[in-house]
Amino acid sequence: MSGGHSSYTPTTGIEKWLDARLPLPRLMYDSFVAYPVPRNLNYAYTFGGILAIMLVAQIMTGIVLAMHYAATTQLAFDSVEHIMRDVNSGWLLRYLHSNGASFFFIAVYVHIFRGLYYGSYKAPREMLWILGVIIYLLMMATGFMGYVLPWGQMSFWGATVITGFFTAFPIIGEPIQQLLLGGFAVDNPTLNRFYSLHYLLPFMIAGVVILHVWALHVTGQTNPTGIEVKSKTDTLAFTPYATVKDSFAMMLFLLVFAYFVFYIPNYLGHPDNYTQANPLVTPAHIVPEWYYLPFYAILRAITFNIGPIDSKLGGVIAMFGSILVLFVVPWLDTSKVRSAVYRPWFKLFFWIFVVDCIILGWLGSKPAEGTYVAMAQVATLYYFAFFVVVMPLLGLIETPRRMPNSITESVLEKAGDGGGAQPDAAAAAPETRG
Ligand code: HEM
Repeated sequence: MSGGHSSYTPTTGIEKWLDARLPLPRLMYDSFVAYPVPRNLNYAYTFGGILAIMLVAQIMTGIVLAMHYAATTQLAFDSVEHIMRDVNSGWLLRYLHSNGASFFFIAVYVHIFRGLYYGSYKAPREMLWILGVIIYLLMMATGFMGYVLPWGQMSFWGATVITGFFTAFPIIGEPIQQLLLGGFAVDNPTLNRFYSLHYLLPFMIAGVVILHVWALHVTGQTNPTGIEVKSKTDTLAFTPYATVKDSFAMMLFLLVFAYFVFYIPNYLGHPDNYTQANPLVTPAHIVPEWYYLPFYAILRAITFNIGPIDSKLGGVIAMFGSILVLFVVPWLDTSKVRSAVYRPWFKLFFWIFVVDCIILGWLGSKPAEGTYVAMAQVATLYYFAFFVVVMPLLGLIETPRRMPNSITESVLEKAGDGGGAQPDAAAAAPETRG
């Protein structure tokens, strides 16, 4: 996956033997030891590694949970209680897995917002970004199906509401819904197929992650300046520099994760899911897991018909659109300067966007009535405006700040060693296009 010239020299006999047949050590050495990374990467760039660890942890805990879980509506709820009470360290496995899902999403949100802030999606990294969005979609599907498995009240009603969205689409909607459910309502066939897919999708995610990291190693990483690597002095070897920084960030992240697992394991869950699913009793408020809340708010913000599109279909289109718009971000942003560090106006709109997403998340947890709906409508409007108005227009009219000539220069400037800087960013901008 390293792409360039290899500096690996096998020393021992076994290394030489393997290198001539299946050069795996060479691949690892070139990708994770000698691989050059920009010398100015900050902690926002450690979340890719954290995500990789979280994916492995989810797969490992999931496989052991699956050994004790029973995917039938008769047994599912009790089998989860059995895991919690009878299975050796079963409570730990389950809390690691359920909180792990939340922490996986925390990491992916930081990773995505980092990408938006530093313009990581810009040419030539469009494929890298698109693969990321595919991973994100797969993660959402996996999380949704996993939440149905404990067969609690929220599992059942969440699945009923979400699969119900599909009926908003004319003609194809109902067949799609029936295919998902394996019938006309959430029941045993639904639980079976969700279990099967919940087991399969993480491996598909792992496959796409390999492509993601491959694409990353073809283009190389960006860095906070957005200026491409120009000389050897702009980079450092992945090991030890990035490995140590990534490991330190990972440990801090895992420390917070451990606090949740051991002290507040149910903080991010919903108490209704400790009551077994009952198709005859609807919970007072049906809310999805926290990581879907902004999209849930967008769905419920469309309370009016738009021409021939009724409010239900409008809401579903807005919700799917709010995720699908990410695919075209590389072409929506017209700025020649990559990083928000040199774009004062973009920086401002970006942070408003972050706050907007948090507000949407909060609104998603509230009942869809009164001022909450009006607020969700304003927040939804800004969400889309950020992508389809701010990104294309701002790039054309904004005057970027002065940029350094190279990564090395920016590092030396920060360290107070001076170094001539280019008077205006427009002159340096073409460099950012790689
Ligand atoms: C399981 C999920 C994922 C894993 C394991 C993963 C892994 C990684 C790794 C290891 C890196 C390099 C280190 C870093 O920059 O943090 C990276 C970079 C990147 N990722 Fe991901 N990623 C995941 C999800 C995503 C998603 C959902 C997106 C976007 C929607 C995304 C977009 C990117 C981009 C654009 C870069 C290049 C960053 C740059 O060089 O500026 N990734 N990813």
